[in-house]
Amino acid sequence: MTLNDNFLWGGAISANQVEGAWNIGGKGMSVADVATFKPHVDVKDYKAHNAITTEKILEAKNEEDAKWYPKRRGIDFYHQYKEDIKLFSEMGFKTLRISIAWTRLFPTGEEEQANASGIDYYKNIFKELKKYNIEPIVTLSHYEMPLALSEKYNGWVDRKLVDLFVRYAEVCFKEFGEYVTYWLTFNEIDSVGRHPFITAGIVEDKCIGYSLDEAIYQSLHHQYVAAAIATNLCHKIIPGSKMGCMLTKLTTYPNTCNPEDVFLSLKSNLNNYVHADIQVLGEYSPLYKKQLENKGINIKMMPEDERLIKENTADYLAFSYYMSRTESSDASLEQTSGNTIMGVKNPYLPSTEWGWEIDPLGLKISLIELQDRYNVPLIIVENGMGAKDELTKDGKVHDDYRIDYLREHIRAIIEAAEEGVDVFGYTSWAPIDSISVSTSQMSKRYGYIYVDQDDLGEGSYKRIKKDSYYWYKKVIESNGEILD
Ligand code: BG6
Repeated sequence: MTLNDNFLWGGAISANQVEGAWNIGGKGMSVADVATFKPHVDVKDYKAHNAITTEKILEAKNEEDAKWYPKRRGIDFYHQYKEDIKLFSEMGFKTLRISIAWTRLFPTGEEEQANASGIDYYKNIFKELKKYNIEPIVTLSHYEMPLALSEKYNGWVDRKLVDLFVRYAEVCFKEFGEYVTYWLTFNEIDSVGRHPFITAGIVEDKCIGYSLDEAIYQSLHHQYVAAAIATNLCHKIIPGSKMGCMLTKLTTYPNTCNPEDVFLSLKSNLNNYVHADIQVLGEYSPLYKKQLENKGINIKMMPEDERLIKENTADYLAFSYYMSRTESSDASLEQTSGNTIMGVKNPYLPSTEWGWEIDPLGLKISLIELQDRYNVPLIIVENGMGAKDELTKDGKVHDDYRIDYLREHIRAIIEAAEEGVDVFGYTSWAPIDSISVSTSQMSKRYGYIYVDQDDLGEGSYKRIKKDSYYWYKKVIESNGEILD
């Protein structure tokens, strides 16, 4: 066996994409609750579609309905979590990665006391997981910060967010520490640069007296500091706990051996590593500091920040991997669609309907690179294929394309482990269909379990096992030995 017997097989979901119940149990509005769905948006136009303004936020706040705001309804996991967890357990899950909606505990982010109903809700989930021996991996912030903090402070631009997040994290450690050993601070922290609103609450028209770029780098700094303080607290409050950081692994290839292309891909890879360098190695690298200086970005730091970051590094590195990207110095080449992650088309790779290029070997490459650079335990906490599934008349979903995608990626993990990579788990995105983060579509499905709901929220919300459900069960049972 290449993988350890206790390899953590499972799936990953986030509160804002599955829970629904956006205004129930005292929950406040989060940045996810203002994300709109629009039919027929071309995949190339999603960046513009998702661009947020103060006006759009006001419009969303005046709308009570969930129809055009699908993350408000999710897949009703809030009410159906027992049934869903049972289905995961029947697949043999060893772990489930979930996130906590900050706004269930602190509706505006600034309350003195946490909301008891939110605490009970998550405790019940953890108890349910415990019943089936499913180890939770819990992300504290997964694209669902309180909207009120975005409105009042322009999100993480303000230092105040560090204290507010730490207060929230401390409540989580104290209340849920009995159930949770594995934690993650920020989902895909690097995405503050790609979608500043959902990751850090930054609204461009509120950047007054500073540029959007300054807002992004300042917010990132505040998140690194908050992550460091939270890591320290987590270790103190929960003995034996493990706090990880999380990166979108964007492995970039040069389009040709033209040194110009190689240079661009080098820059792109370094810009991706920066976030793990700071959180795992504990410092802003000299190259990164110089890059900021050259851009004229002057991050405001408190005297203790660099020490905090140095002393409280992550115990493990978690990452998502969906695709690789390719850089070229030739501006005339065709770009991939890929929502917010673009590159030039790689002629060697097929892509999904959303333009995400399918590259299992890229996952092996990523694992080896990360092992070599950081030498800490690694876990893939997201990987999967969004597709439009068809529910047949006899109530089945034959998703062979998904099985093919996952099989080859799991094979890549096993091969990387054979080469000495210390990888301790795999949670595919997402074990059950949920609302797409980038397009707010329901029809961009990832699950082993089909949810009967369309893009406008119509449907019975019934759960149906797809072919991939039975396949993944066998993979887990055999600890990755049976992939076909
Ligand atoms: C990751 C996010 O970037 O990609 C998830 O952490 C997200 O929340 C996943 O769902 C897939 O993206 P999308 O846009 O297809 O939902």
